[in-house]
Amino acid sequence: SAHEMFLQCFSSHMQHSRSYSEVILTKNSSAYSSVLQSSIRNFRFLNTSTLKPQFIITPFNEFEIQAAIVCAKKYDMQIRVRSGGHDYEGLSFLSYQEFVLIDLAELSSISVDIESETAWIGAGASIGELYYRIAEKSKVHGFPAGSCPTVGVGGHFSGGGLGTIFRKYGLAADNVIDARIVDANGRILDRESTGEDLFWAIQGGGGASFGVVFSWKVRLVSVPPTVTVFNIEKTLQQGASNLLHKWQNIGDKLHEDLFLHATIAVATSSSNGNKTIQVSFASLFLGRAEELLPVMQDSFPELGLTRENCSEMSWIQSVLYYGGFSPSDSLDVLLSRTAQFKGFFKGKSDYVKEPIPETGLEGLYKRLLEEETSMLILTPYGGRMSEISDSETPFPHRNGNIFEIQYIITWDVEEETEKNLKWMRKLYAYMAPYVSNSPRAAYLNYRDLDLGRNNHGNTSFAKASVWGFKYFKNNFKRLARVKTATEPSNFFRNEQSIPVLQRKR
Ligand code: FDA
Repeated sequence: SAHEMFLQCFSSHMQHSRSYSEVILTKNSSAYSSVLQSSIRNFRFLNTSTLKPQFIITPFNEFEIQAAIVCAKKYDMQIRVRSGGHDYEGLSFLSYQEFVLIDLAELSSISVDIESETAWIGAGASIGELYYRIAEKSKVHGFPAGSCPTVGVGGHFSGGGLGTIFRKYGLAADNVIDARIVDANGRILDRESTGEDLFWAIQGGGGASFGVVFSWKVRLVSVPPTVTVFNIEKTLQQGASNLLHKWQNIGDKLHEDLFLHATIAVATSSSNGNKTIQVSFASLFLGRAEELLPVMQDSFPELGLTRENCSEMSWIQSVLYYGGFSPSDSLDVLLSRTAQFKGFFKGKSDYVKEPIPETGLEGLYKRLLEEETSMLILTPYGGRMSEISDSETPFPHRNGNIFEIQYIITWDVEEETEKNLKWMRKLYAYMAPYVSNSPRAAYLNYRDLDLGRNNHGNTSFAKASVWGFKYFKNNFKRLARVKTATEPSNFFRNEQSIPVLQRKR
């Protein structure tokens, strides 16, 4: 059978001391289920009836990835590639047809070179591990990527990657300077041999359409020895809505050293026990509290920030803080692969170009109060993000966006899934007049299959444009051209992979 032929092919391609049974797990292997489930964060995909992988390959080197690709292509088997497993729609480990899962978790070596201010990072490493390895060597270097330490660099960097210092330094993808990638012909390429087009495509266009990224080289960035964080929470009764109105007008215009995001969630009022809306204004400032206070007094005095609200710490401690830990915790927690959040969830994203008026916010609060476990995270853009052109990388959401909204709802039991998905889609429909349009833009790393999906097999550019322009705007055309030139066989495909352009008759 094709399966046996695949196994034979894979074993004959093994070049190293390990036997193929150490690298490949079949459905009969005792470790199969635990490896499959190891990095599934979203329980929506745990008990799915969707086909489970025929084989799981856990490569230790590029040659094992190469062997998996060559053999899967030869025997017409689909592949899925997983690094940290955080994909919002599970596309890294689910497929509509039989497939081989390449799980890169073992490829997590990181080498940081402070002298050249660069690092090589295995695609299976997490961003927490990266931050840890940088901090091991320097107190004044950091890297601009996301907040949740278990996120994998494989998916995160290839989809953009943003966090608390992106207003100063841009996305993780903006700071990638080289990559090693295995293409559909099993060739191992780097930036020089891939050429600039393919290198451009994997800096925000999603790696999964183009190959398997084996490792990234990144430029480290400078951080001061002391940074300052604060978090001020206000309910509607305490004037949260006025503060949010002001924040919408200034969040993207603040100095690029200052990141101040707003989270809107449901809370219980301490005075009467009723449910109310609470807005948290949380900040990371690249400097000391005494420098931050006058900046805030000048730009956002209404928030009433005092010295007592501020905590000074090192940059790596702020990573712990924003990762949901205490700044005094051991840095070792950044090396853990066990996610803090595991459960059912659905996420969506939007971009905002004009402040949302009070009437819009009131309707939003009403809807959030219907579902207590919902929340919106409002991330301010501006700063460095406005200086980088829309076409520099496939990530197009730059100048003109004042903030991004991430909508999240979580739940504990499967029976609530349909109800919550329906609620989320209604909220998204409600927000349409207040957010970007033509296209209604979205962030690839908050993947949303409601935006559209490819047919099984090949999908035309026109059909894929339904979702493609939302993630990539005009860069979608160049992504399709790069796909057509580098991977015309469309071997690397999924529900939202970049389509191959059809030849004109
Ligand atoms: P996963 O392994 O699921 O891969 C995601 C996609 O990339 C899949 O299509 C996969 O096939 C492909 N892929 C993965 N590795 C590849 C490789 N080596 N080569 C080619 N293709 C590859 N985002 C953000 O910008 N800032 C943040 O702070 C956060 N925080 C956050 C918290 C939590 C709890 C979650 C669940 C998610 C986030 N994210 C985020 C979103 C995150 O950036 C996004 O889900 C990334 O794609 C995750 O990358 P992983 O490698 O973990 O995912």
